[in-house]
Amino acid sequence: MTSANNARFNAEAAAWDSNPTVVLASDLARKAILDRLPGPDTTSRLDVLEIGCGTGILSLALAPSFRSVTAVDAAEGMIAALEAKLNAENCTTKNVRPVCALLEDPGDERIRPDAAAASRLDGSKRLEPRRFDLVVSHLVLHHIPDLLSVLQTMFGCLKRGGLIMLTDFEDFGPQARRFHPETKMAGVERHGIKRTDMEALLLRAGFVDVRVETAFKMDKTVETEPGSGVKGPTMTFPFLICIGKKPTCPT
Ligand SMILES: C[S@@+](CC[C@H](N)C(=O)[O-])C[C@H]1O[C@@H](n2cnc3c(N)ncnc32)[C@H](O)[C@@H]1O
Repeated sequence: MTSANNARFNAEAAAWDSNPTVVLASDLARKAILDRLPGPDTTSRLDVLEIGCGTGILSLALAPSFRSVTAVDAAEGMIAALEAKLNAENCTTKNVRPVCALLEDPGDERIRPDAAAASRLDGSKRLEPRRFDLVVSHLVLHHIPDLLSVLQTMFGCLKRGGLIMLTDFEDFGPQARRFHPETKMAGVERHGIKRTDMEALLLRAGFVDVRVETAFKMDKTVETEPGSGVKGPTMTFPFLICIGKKPTCPT
């Protein structure tokens, strides 16, 4: 994550949820994730970590199906927007914990529910790092400079046997660039994710039972011509879901 990215996401946080494409994409990601997991009897016992939660649209949508959701984002504006939703009088969600952090270390104490107390302990009394059953991210990978490094962080955040389920739009060729208007290219590291690259990276990070498959397709209005700034035709963008399991036994 670059500081250009952080500045951009802070600036966009307040209006983030007013973009219907963003809301629809998160809803389709929620369905794609839940469709690939056992039913509520199992998921209600699982703790989830979302990395790059933004204003928490996906975290809040997943929350009723899981025991807890730890919602992490590096942009303080995004986390402030999520906190405002959680503090609203009509909010009934009690199991989402927002954390403002650029998560690069699986031992980061900020992802512990007792983070404040843990940080006051001296070095010799350090607590075991928190580990999760499921790590998700949505529309984040195309902003990440070093994909292997973030996958290794996710691997480290999982319990043995835990899963990652990551969704992002697919790099299906040169037209994938049109997903973003030209004015929003700052912090875009790649125009979507590639199926074969993601499979290879997941295996390199240590995951097993790796699957990268089309999760859903979504229509999005794009510029008439790249850089025109004028809303034009609708294009259909495929989204991939990248799934991997942390081996049950150490290899
Ligand atoms: C395009 S936004 C997507 C937000 C949200 N998932 C959504 O779809 O509405 C990408 C987000 O990922 C966050 N991000 C990227 N890398 C991160 C990391 N290593 N730790 C925490 N947040 C990260 C950025 O701050 C940004 O808010």
